[in-house]
Amino acid sequence: MHALVTGGAGFIGSHLCDRLLEKGYRVTAIDNLHLGRMRNIDHLLERSDFRFQKMDMLDREGMEQLLAAADRPDAVFHLAANSDIAAGNANAELDLQLNQLTTTTLLAVMRKHGIDRLFFASTSAVFGEAEGNIHENHGPLRPISLYGASKLAAEAYLSVYALSFGIKTLVLRFPNVVGERSTHGAIHDFINRLKADPTRLQVLGNGMQTKPYLYVGDLVDAILLAWDKAPGAYEVFHASGIGETSVRDIAEIVVSKVAAGAAIEYGSEDRGWLGDVPRFSYDISRLVALGWSPKRKSTEAVELAVERILANGF
Ligand SMILES: NC(=O)c1ccc[n+]([C@@H]2O[C@H](COP(=O)([O-])OP(=O)(O)OC[C@H]3O[C@@H](n4cnc5c(N)ncnc54)[C@H](O)[C@@H]3O)[C@@H](O)[C@H]2O)c1
Repeated sequence: MHALVTGGAGFIGSHLCDRLLEKGYRVTAIDNLHLGRMRNIDHLLERSDFRFQKMDMLDREGMEQLLAAADRPDAVFHLAANSDIAAGNANAELDLQLNQLTTTTLLAVMRKHGIDRLFFASTSAVFGEAEGNIHENHGPLRPISLYGASKLAAEAYLSVYALSFGIKTLVLRFPNVVGERSTHGAIHDFINRLKADPTRLQVLGNGMQTKPYLYVGDLVDAILLAWDKAPGAYEVFHASGIGETSVRDIAEIVVSKVAAGAAIEYGSEDRGWLGDVPRFSYDISRLVALGWSPKRKSTEAVELAVERILANGF
């Protein structure tokens, strides 16, 4: 099996490359290095079963060449996106281009060249501030960020290409994923702030936002399990950590490991930035029924992520 991983030099994409190679796949990774970094995949570059191409998915001609080649991929894991919600709200072009148009370009090229298996990395942000334990068919979907809106639009196109044009598609919607190689997020941000000033940590918002966090290794388990086991033409699953962790908990964990004694200063808003969803909970029973459960609970995932980022250096 030859897999194309888009966003392969990013946080989750690089971990997925590692695991696909472990499972015996041949992997081609593409990334325009918008947020991705070569250091995430440097350890793979010497392997004969791995290839990296620096490429923008909006380069239609480049995508055509890649997917029409004699050794073209059998399947695509599409993770390339703008993953930074705040940046997407500040620049409205970002999510449209990197989340929606990368997806529609990919789908058109896959259809043209007969590549008929796809994984898509979606997000809990498609639901906005929905209440309760959110299951896969929850509605109405009312995103509150351009990021969430662009992922929801992408899902609509995926549904059409799956149900009308025969591209068998697996969508996983997940919330906060943590681990080494992350390119953004609270842990990443807190570590960087404390390295710059070990005496104080300024937190955006009041720190009461409380969410389930998932360690990246557990997410990749979920992706690969559902990839092998989900039978339908268009399948949507929810994956999330178990339990909840507040931003205050995260700040305290990071301070204890990076700069013990640093003063933590909170803002007054109930969220860190526009489009941030302060609290939610996911129903993951469909994925659990397939045989998945995360190895670490939410706060353990956060602790492990901080340790691995510090040990790894990024
Ligand atoms: N990290 C999370 O908590 C989380 C939660 C839900 C969904 N997701 C989704 O999972 C996927 C991976 O997220 P991540 O956290 O690894 O983010 P990331 O930013 O580390 O990875 C995305 C990668 O896509 C690349 N990219 C962006 N635009 C591109 C383009 N036009 N052409 C080629 N490459 C391009 C970036 O350079 C980056 O390496 C994304 O689709 C994201 O929306 C992430």
